[in-house]
Amino acid sequence: MKRFSTILCVLGALSATAVTSAALADETNPDIIHRQGIYKIVGGHMTALRSSLLLNNEKTQAQAAYHAEGIIEAFKRMGDAYPAGSDKGVTKASPDIWAKPDEFREKGRNAFAAATNLLEVVQMDGSKREIMAAYRDLGASCKACHDDFRQK
Ligand code: HEC
Repeated sequence: MKRFSTILCVLGALSATAVTSAALADETNPDIIHRQGIYKIVGGHMTALRSSLLLNNEKTQAQAAYHAEGIIEAFKRMGDAYPAGSDKGVTKASPDIWAKPDEFREKGRNAFAAATNLLEVVQMDGSKREIMAAYRDLGASCKACHDDFRQK
């Protein structure tokens, strides 16, 4: 019973968040909502991963693997996130995404490769230094795309 009410609380919290952010974003285009939702998942993993690395305790390795996997899985599920027409709405997607699709895709591939590399380093029992380096490379790959293709 205790467990059940915890689940209800979690569901309640989730739907409250969904309602608030939908109202704030004022966005109805499902393509935009979906990709922003996936990026939020990726952002959540990065935030949690960073604090896990800072804590650096006996849980860190398992948590780092989970977050790296989560980022990889989220990227895989983005689908065709920038179809024609999804530049119209409440979005920070830069018009350059459609003007320079090859460059954009390359940034995406780089970030995916960086996340895969992080997972490998963690799974191969890399040192803290190696894991931090892989984490920083991943963060840099996010930033590289945001600098060119995400509007302020
Ligand atoms: C290939 C380009 C690209 C890569 C790589 C990328 N992003 Fe983004 N990101 C974008 C674009 C474009 C947007 C804006 C999307 C929109 O508003 O429709 C965005 C938005 C976001 C948002 C805001 C979502 C919202 O609406 O609240 C977060 C958080 C985010 N990205 C985190 C990350 C993290 C963390 C990584 C790396 C692990 C990453 N992104 C990698 C292009 C990218």
